[in-house]
Amino acid sequence: GRLTAIVPAAGVGARAADGTGPKQYRPIAGTAMLVHTVRALLAEPRIDRVLVAVAPGDAQAANLLAGVARVQVLACGGATRYDSVANALAAAGLAGDDWVLVHDAARPGLPADALAALIDACLPDPVGGLLALPVADTVKRAGEGEAAPRVEATLSREHLWQAQTPQMFRAGLLSEAFARVRARGEAPTDEAGAVEALGARPLLVRGSFANLKVTWPQDFIWMEKWLG
Ligand code: C5P
Repeated sequence: GRLTAIVPAAGVGARAADGTGPKQYRPIAGTAMLVHTVRALLAEPRIDRVLVAVAPGDAQAANLLAGVARVQVLACGGATRYDSVANALAAAGLAGDDWVLVHDAARPGLPADALAALIDACLPDPVGGLLALPVADTVKRAGEGEAAPRVEATLSREHLWQAQTPQMFRAGLLSEAFARVRARGEAPTDEAGAVEALGARPLLVRGSFANLKVTWPQDFIWMEKWLG
């Protein structure tokens, strides 16, 4: 089957908010974050095309990516990331055994070797998988609604991984997974979460620190150095 990348880029970037608009269009080393992200995917020859899901009425992505081969911008963004991806998947017209690789617009630092390692691991696999990193820090859970947060519990970091993207699954499995979570009224924050709801167990492939999701203002400073 073919390999199609879907880039959800319909978020508002509330946590990085500084009045400059959605974070995926902020320049990093002189180029919009989304353009770095799309270039990282296009550098992989096994990716046939890249579909970028933006909010209806958003013309910025189409302007930035006009004329770029293998790229299509779809105004199919939804209320949540999962809606944006599900809409793009429905619009893509894929066969059930085609592969889909979903990658956040907000991860412009994806290294080519990590992307290649994920594809190598997933292509022969019946389920698919995702890039992730073993948790290095001790993890605390805070109590709810406290002005000064205090520790409620310490989680064992053993066996814990932080999920990144890309996440790669067959189109048929992913559509079935989205239909299942929608029927249950759930809103998974990643594709693997939806696939797990079917009882499948995605592969964990070691990602990279450079593949961090640009979320907080200081992340832009780090990413300027990596991409600059
Ligand atoms: O909000 P978060 O950082 O988890 O967003 C991850 C990715 O999902 C971003 O690339 C963002 O643009 C995208 N997104 C989307 N549609 C939404 C919300 C987020 O495509 N409704």
